[in-house]
Amino acid sequence: MSVVDLKGMLAGAGDELERWGRTINPQFVRVLKTIGFDRTWASAQGPYLYDTDGNRYLDMLGGFGMYNVGRNNPRIRAALIEALELDTPGMLAMGVTALPGLLAEALLDRTPARFGRVLFTSTGTEAVEAAIKLGRAATKRSRVLSLDHAFHGLTLGSLSVNGNPEFTSRFGPLLPDCERVPLGDLDALERELVREDVAVFIVEPIQGKGVYMPPPGYLEGAQELCRRYGTLFCVDEVQTGFGRTGKLFAFEHWGLEPDLVPVAKSLSGGYVPVGALIMSRAVHEAVFDSMEHAVSHGSTFAPNELAMAAGLATLHELDEQRLVEASADLGRRLLELTRPLVDEFDVVRDVRGLGLMWAIEFGEPERSGRRTWRLIERMQPGLFAQLVVAPLFSEHRILTQVAGHNMAVLKVLPPLVVGADDIDEFVDALTATIKRAQRMPASLTRFALTAAGLR
Ligand SMILES: Cc1ncc(COP(=O)(O)O)c(C=O)c1O
Repeated sequence: MSVVDLKGMLAGAGDELERWGRTINPQFVRVLKTIGFDRTWASAQGPYLYDTDGNRYLDMLGGFGMYNVGRNNPRIRAALIEALELDTPGMLAMGVTALPGLLAEALLDRTPARFGRVLFTSTGTEAVEAAIKLGRAATKRSRVLSLDHAFHGLTLGSLSVNGNPEFTSRFGPLLPDCERVPLGDLDALERELVREDVAVFIVEPIQGKGVYMPPPGYLEGAQELCRRYGTLFCVDEVQTGFGRTGKLFAFEHWGLEPDLVPVAKSLSGGYVPVGALIMSRAVHEAVFDSMEHAVSHGSTFAPNELAMAAGLATLHELDEQRLVEASADLGRRLLELTRPLVDEFDVVRDVRGLGLMWAIEFGEPERSGRRTWRLIERMQPGLFAQLVVAPLFSEHRILTQVAGHNMAVLKVLPPLVVGADDIDEFVDALTATIKRAQRMPASLTRFALTAAGLR
């Protein structure tokens, strides 16, 4: 037992939703209650969550993509316990230890030869901030381009390259010289790059908000334009990295060799905050170019020993359990099983994905259900997707999410340890739920009215 008796504290914790609402964020608790997600959770294993009544839930959300190796993975936990028991020196501040170098080496061994350095952070947004900051110094340019609808984190630098006004509008002024171009439009990109004042062009290989895929040739073309005009090409793999899309890194699908790659989320198996900016040696050397500039960027807790131990164990686990291959295979299965829904349901517009990053988009039906759709979407754009997410959770015990503000898109990012039977269970439940939601029974319409009150 620890000195604080965590087990006893948890057993006697009482109403955790009430306490969270009182001490952390009452509005978030209101949201959970409105959409019926106000369960109390007891434990988790692999792709499953268990509530305090002993019910099992299939986690198709994976902590927004940080549990690629499964929740409470015993082998990552063992590595963490070993690291704790070794009483490693910890952060030296003025000195170095072995674990960070070992993890950096393991990451570089798994990426193209162009990459030569790793800068550790504690989160994804910090890795993005580092890409912007180092990119500016390395190129001696200030402009940063990103895409409409982009999401790269919520601290101020990353917000400056965010392409969703609902995230940015109340928090300005943001960083100067940050502009956006539309996804898929290489001409628009070239019009900006040709001025030769853009330090960094940052993209998600697949956009997380809405799961929008790049049109064929776009990312390769963007990389070529960046090289031509001296702009650093930054591919944000915070969400898509570590097997999510069926390759270790999504950029491999297009044979890309970016200059900067922020990663985070699943790198530590979901146990410990971690992030990293993997970059070409040239970028690093342009910024850290003298002893005077040896500490041009960093943060107190990065790299921390536990994150490094978990990172090494996670990379090993991805290899040993062949989780990247599993993600590709199961993703193919998920797409094959769900593509027919576009023909089966008037309300399903599109099904898309790569590996286990997948989404289904709804749209106004052309035949029956049109009036109700309009009524519901007028209350809050995208609300129909919530009409599928809510019963998937309350009736089928499957955790999913709406893919972004004001969009009728349901998204999943399950742990890569899900089984084929889990995928089948999800598809069956999804099909049954869409069938019901399309008919808009009174109970669902009532739910929609309540949920609209969230705004
Ligand atoms: C593509 C991308 N970049 C950056 C981030 C920010 O990562 P973090 O939440 O660890 O700051 C996210 C988070 O969802 C993301 O999806």
